[in-house]
Amino acid sequence: MSARESRTLFVGISQLVTPQAGPQRGAAMRDLTLVPGAAMVVEDGVIVWVGPESEAPKNAFNSDQVRDLGGVAVTPALTDPHTHAVWAGDRLGDFEARVQGVPYETILARGGGIRSTMRATAAASLPELVTLALPRVQALLRSGATTIEIKSGYGLDFDAELRMLEAVRLLQTQTSATLLPTLLLHVPPAEGRAEYVQDVCLTLIPRVAGERLATAVDVFCEREAFSVEETRQFFAAARSHGLNLKLHADQFHALGGTELACELGALSVDHLEASAEAQIAALGRSATVATILPGVTLHLDLPAAPVRQLIEAGACVALGTDLNPGSSPLYSAQLALALGVRLNRLTPAEALTAATVNAAAALGLTDRGALVPGMRADFLTLHSADWRDLPYTLGTTPIQLVVVAGQELSL
Ligand code: NIG
Ligand code: FE
Repeated sequence: MSARESRTLFVGISQLVTPQAGPQRGAAMRDLTLVPGAAMVVEDGVIVWVGPESEAPKNAFNSDQVRDLGGVAVTPALTDPHTHAVWAGDRLGDFEARVQGVPYETILARGGGIRSTMRATAAASLPELVTLALPRVQALLRSGATTIEIKSGYGLDFDAELRMLEAVRLLQTQTSATLLPTLLLHVPPAEGRAEYVQDVCLTLIPRVAGERLATAVDVFCEREAFSVEETRQFFAAARSHGLNLKLHADQFHALGGTELACELGALSVDHLEASAEAQIAALGRSATVATILPGVTLHLDLPAAPVRQLIEAGACVALGTDLNPGSSPLYSAQLALALGVRLNRLTPAEALTAATVNAAAALGLTDRGALVPGMRADFLTLHSADWRDLPYTLGTTPIQLVVVAGQELSL
């Protein structure tokens, strides 16, 4: 296809709404640009012009290069910066127990929960993992997420961990979404914990980095998982192999992982339901993104992460689904955004910023999430003329089209 054939002028946009490009902190999260009656030019998958339709360079396009969207709102596509979309088995028994009062941590301490998903996932073959994960990824894509992070972490041993990451590599050949794989050190083995930590640092992390199977290392820092000291060791190994750092912290207890991640310049700290003043202040001072996961708040009935305080402290807040079978069976990035407004008290504008440019920043990406020249042309058209239907709608999709690098997907 020649460069000329890949040019499209999109018109018929009732509102084009975008946050500013790059990570946005504190009050700047509310600073959206809204162009009424807009048009946008996309060339080779990249936005080259945005403005009022009355000023669009219409004469430079022939009729089959013009796409009339018919008077609907356009927003940037979403990024889902935190999922565990590759798993086998189910947690339906846990769910039934939990809603009758058995705590998530108790189920985990008894060898169930995450550990039961690990047993089922370790027993699954690579093709089985891909077959199970593909419809989950496609559901997230349909829900507006054109960039999706996927963690390992349900491998009982290193082979199973590597198989999960290979599954993400194969999934990438079957979806239009951009997938970013992360190695997750999730829970320690029941025995031989110190040796395991050593082995991860000396064998698993170098292998994953060497084979480019992940771009980041994540750790679950929690009483029933890894300590702050173990997290520090994993992070040192990750850093020395050129991998980015991410952290699950303050889900149930604030152990000090958030402060460590901020000190070491991690891309993001995720969860934060139990964050208090010290953690909020650390995130407010740091470039580390504070990622909230409202699906967990809903499904585990946890306190909501303190978003108003985080934004007031100047933090860069992102949001994601945390799609996983145990704490967040949430298959929609749009619904995560809508829940962030209800449960965490994000304003609609803050929620859009959290789910776009800030979510991309939580993955180290600065080329997407805003509809301005130079950015990837990943965007959504809504069924509505008003963009606020995106955070407003519950239970059906307000999204009409998902566009990836200028191409409309058939969903
Ligand atoms: O992000 N909390 C740790 N890890 C996941 C849950 C995984 C699971 O319950 O299977 C989370 O909540
Ligand atoms: Fe998670």
